[in-house]
Amino acid sequence: MNLIIVKDYQELSQAAADLVAREIIAKPDTVLCLPTGETPIGMYRELIQKYQRGEIDFSEAVAFSLDEYCSLSPEHPQSYYYYMQHTFFRHINIKAENIYLLNGITQDIVAECENYDKQILENGGIDLQILGIGNNGHLGFNEPAISLNSKTHLVNLSDDTIHANSRFFKNIEEVPTKALTVGMGAIMKATKIMLLASGEKKTAAINKTINGLISTRSPSTFLQLHPDVTIIIDKDAASKL
Ligand code: GLP
Repeated sequence: MNLIIVKDYQELSQAAADLVAREIIAKPDTVLCLPTGETPIGMYRELIQKYQRGEIDFSEAVAFSLDEYCSLSPEHPQSYYYYMQHTFFRHINIKAENIYLLNGITQDIVAECENYDKQILENGGIDLQILGIGNNGHLGFNEPAISLNSKTHLVNLSDDTIHANSRFFKNIEEVPTKALTVGMGAIMKATKIMLLASGEKKTAAINKTINGLISTRSPSTFLQLHPDVTIIIDKDAASKL
C-alpha cells in the first residue's frame, strides 16, 4: 500500500485530483468508478477546475458510480444519481453515454445488478477505483458482514451506516435502509485503487485498513491484498497510525 499523509483536507483534495488527472492524461479512455460522500467533494471541485483550465479532457473517459440508495428517485437531492450529476458530471465534458449510474428504484434489482456488472466488464473493467471509507470500514455500501458479495448487489444498511448518513437527511427515519453497491469483486479487480479519508472520525477505520487482520467484518482490510492501492489521508485521519 502506498500511504500518503497530507496536511489537511485541501491538500488531500489536490493530491487526489492530481492522481486522477495523471491517469486520464496517460489513458484518456480511463474507466473510473466513483464514490459519493463528503470526502471526495474537494477532489471533484479540483478536477472541475483542472478541466476548466484545459488541463484534463474527460471526453473519452467512462465513469461508473459506486453505489446508490434504494427507494430514492434520481431527482431526490440525497440520491447518489443527483450527487454525481450535480457535484461532478454536469461540470465536465464527459459524454452522457459514458456515464453509468445504478437505478435504486428499479423494479428488477437482480437484472439491474447483473447488467451493471456486465457493463463494467464490457468497458474492460475499472481502471481507477476511487473510494471513501465508512466509519465501520465499509467500501461503497459493502458493509461489515459474515461474508462479502463479489458482485453488484442489494445491501441492508447497517445501523452504523444509517446513523452516520442521517446527517444528510432531515431525520434518521428518512435514511433508506437498503442500497445497491458494486461488489468487492469489481473493486478488487480494478487496476488501481485510491482511498481517501479525512478527519479524526476515520482514524479507527484507517488503522484497521492498513494494520488490521483481514476480515469480512472490516471490508476495507481486503485492500491489503491489492497490488496497487494508494491511500491519501490527512494528518487527523492518520493520528492513530
Ligand atoms: C457512504 C458511501 C460511501 C462513502 C461513505 C463515507 O456510506 N456509500 O461510498 O465512502 O459514506 O462518506 P463520507 O466521505 O461522507 O465520510
